[in-house]
This record gives sequence, C-alpha cells and structure tokens, in this order.
Amino acid sequence: MEQLNSYIQSNQQRFLDELFELLRIPSVSADSKFSDDVARAAAFIKTKLVEAGAENVEICATNGHPIVYGEKIIDPTLPTVIVYGHYDVQPADPYELWTTPPFEPTLRDGKIYARGACDDKGQVYMHIKAFEAMVKNNVLSCNVRFMIEGEEECGSSNLGPWIIANKHRLKGDVILISDTSIIANDIPSIESGLRGLSYVEVEVTGPNRDLHSGVYGGAVANPIQALCEMIASMKDENQHITIPGFYDTVLELSKSEREEMSRTPFNLEDYKKDLDIENVRGEAGYSTIERTGIRPTLECNGIWGGYTGEGSKTVLPSKAFAKISMRLVPNQSSEEITKLFADHFRKVAPAGVKVEVRPHHGGEPVVTPTDSVAFKAASMAMEETFGKKPIPTRGGGSIPIVALFEKELGLKSVLMGFGLDSDLIHSPNEHYGVFNFMKGIETIPVFFRNYSQLSK
Ligand code: BES
Ligand code: MN
Ligand code: MN
Repeated sequence: MEQLNSYIQSNQQRFLDELFELLRIPSVSADSKFSDDVARAAAFIKTKLVEAGAENVEICATNGHPIVYGEKIIDPTLPTVIVYGHYDVQPADPYELWTTPPFEPTLRDGKIYARGACDDKGQVYMHIKAFEAMVKNNVLSCNVRFMIEGEEECGSSNLGPWIIANKHRLKGDVILISDTSIIANDIPSIESGLRGLSYVEVEVTGPNRDLHSGVYGGAVANPIQALCEMIASMKDENQHITIPGFYDTVLELSKSEREEMSRTPFNLEDYKKDLDIENVRGEAGYSTIERTGIRPTLECNGIWGGYTGEGSKTVLPSKAFAKISMRLVPNQSSEEITKLFADHFRKVAPAGVKVEVRPHHGGEPVVTPTDSVAFKAASMAMEETFGKKPIPTRGGGSIPIVALFEKELGLKSVLMGFGLDSDLIHSPNEHYGVFNFMKGIETIPVFFRNYSQLSK
C-alpha cells in the first residue's frame, strides 16, 4: 500500500490534467446538440480504461448514448466488484452565472470548477486512476468490471435493457458507486439509501387560443391561475402532500431508527446561512434530514406560460405548463405514484380547463445494507483514509438504476461517494475538491483490499 500511495501522490498532476481533459468535453446527455461530445466523452473513458489496464473495453451502443464497459478478471475465485458511474453531465445553463466557463475547468482554492467536476466525472475518474494505480503496482485483489454510462442525468432509460441483455458478462458480487456525498471533509459518511423519482410534465389548456385579457378576462378560466391553484393544493398547511394514497405504502422508520438518524451531525443555523433563508420549510413533524432522507416530497421544478418577454402584453393565455417531480421512499412505486398524481391532478382541475399529464423518466427508491461485507469494507476503508469512522446517512438524491441492479442482477450497491452537498452539482459553479478527488483515489484501493480479505 505504501508503494501504491506514493504512486498516487507522484502522479497527482497527471491525474488532474487527464480529468481536466475529460471535463472539457461538454457531454450533456439531455441536449441532442451535444451528442457528438457525449460520444467523445465515451471514447475518452474507453481510452483511459485501456491505458489503465482494463481488458475487453468496449463502447456499447444503445438506442441513446453508449455505455462504456471494461473488465479485468485476474482470478475467477476472487470476488468481483462492478464499478458503476456516469460520464454524462447536466446542462450548464445559465452560463452567465458561472465565474469561469463550465467546460473550461479551472483550479481555484484547491477546487476544480467545471460542470461534472463532482457529478460524476471527477468521481468516475477516481475509480479509473485507483484501478490504474492498483494494476501498475500489482496490488489488485478483486476482479473488476466497469460500467460507465452516458444517460444517468436523463433517466438511464437504455441502461436497464442493456443490463438485461448483458447479464452474462455482469457476473459480480457488489456494485461500487461514487456518485453521492459525504457530510464534510472531516466527517466522512456513506449514504445507505437513495430516493426514487416520479417526474411529470403537465399542460393546462383554457381557451383554444390566446385572448385579449380585457375583452375576455374575468369570464374565461386563465390556465396559469388554474395551474397555480392546482399546484398549491398539492400540499396542505403542514406541507403534507394531499394526493390521496400518496403515503399509503411509505415505510415509516422505527423510533430507534429515527433516534439514530437524529445523531447525524447537522447544523440548522449553518444550513440556513448557507442558503440565505430565514427559515426552513417542510413536512410538519420531521427534521430537515428526515425531510430529505426518509420522507417523500413533491416539488415544482419549472412553470411557464403566457407572455414573459419585454414590456407588457395584455393576454389571457391559452396554455400553462409545469414540470413536477416527486421523490419517493421505500416502498413507494414510481409507476403507482405517477398514476395517483395524474388521477388527482385531473380531478382538481377547475371548470373551464383541460389537463394533460405526461410522465417522464422515473426510478425506484433503494436502501442499501449497512451490515454487508461490502459496506464494512467501505466503512473500514474510509476510516483508514479519513481517520474517522464514516456515518451511515440517507441521501435525498436519486440514481434510478441502482434499484434495477438489485432486481436484474441480484446485486446490492455500496454508495461510497466523496462529494460535498456544497459542491453545487447541477448548479452554476459546480466544483470538486482536489482533496476529495485524491481521497477517493486513495480510499478505493483500500476498499478493494478490505473487500477481498473480508470475503474470504
Ligand atoms: N449523483 C446524482 C444523485 C445524487 C446526488 C445522489 C447527491 C446523492 C447525493 C445523480 O447524478 C442525479 O443527479 N440524479 C438525478 C436523477 C436523474 C434521473 C436526473 C436526481 O437525483 O435528480
Ligand atoms: Mn451523478
Ligand atoms: Mn446528477
């Protein structure tokens, strides 16, 4: 391990240079104008996997963006770790809010600023470099398979079918993912759950055309007002979601589980200060970490309609739209919740408007075990490299494919992420600490060593 660590330290600059090269590729999966760049990012990952020592590296075409697969099977009797991550990124808009351009990675105060720096290129690249370090120093102690996809940020819709079709080459013992966060650089943690997602777009139509708001206003339903009323009615005064049946299957935590959760380090004052808000707002009866970790939510992600250009236009619009997402917890089902939402949304529409609900991608919630060999291997690895035992936490985000790994491959995941909630993923000025990047590269080989030892 000593030799390995000095290899990692002495190659730090090259690792960063290579990561910067990857970050310069604007692999935005949601926007077809970046398709060539997404393909270039896949090719880059392939090249780097080959250089690091992976075999059978392949860019696997799908109906959408490709999946990069690679493996190193050193001994079939050893455990096999499947590393999953994504090389696609969220759109970088609005560009003008970035201090330095999103696809011109810049190092400032020990942090790498770029779209995808943390989510997830920086974290994927830790795995490729940790693998390279293990191979070059002859300490690889598990078989490895890499499965790096290009559609996580738009729903992973082609990865599911690919997994089913490629089950034969995905034999393994655990899925290792670095795409989540730790509490702080001096408070390591491992997420033990991800929320599911149900995402819909709604369209509310009033009159068959835009109308003069003086001639018709007051006599015809305004779809923007109707939509606002409908959205507002989705939560009561306790911020409880009003969709009938929404909470029916929600798994409530036991008193002792909640007590354990309340010991997670969290400072509400710092939280409010960071967000510049006077108070938090959420479901009555639950703490902030419970609201994001173990409770389902409903948020309006965007709303539009009518005239929003310069100056004024007196118009009673024909249409109004919104994008609405619901985060789900065990044992809610994305499909059922989408249906409950759609039925309810149609029901609460006032007279004089028509409603259309269009479901987008979704995903199921997961809870990963904290008593497994793999979790222990990760926990011990972080304890060794951070000098502190990591705390299990419940993350608020979603990685839709994780539930499918369990269903289709029968494999549990370990969410050994190294980001920080303050890394501004999906926002302008996304960044990733060089500390976190290097800590990841250092910790991953310790996980491999622990996992093979504990698996014996
Ligand atoms: N890496 C994130 C998920 C995440 C972030 C988990 C922080 C835990 C902590 C992932 O790339 C992501 O953004 N997922 C999306 C879902 C997807 C379907 C767009 C999400 O959570 O909104
Ligand atoms: Mn991610
Ligand atoms: Mn993301």
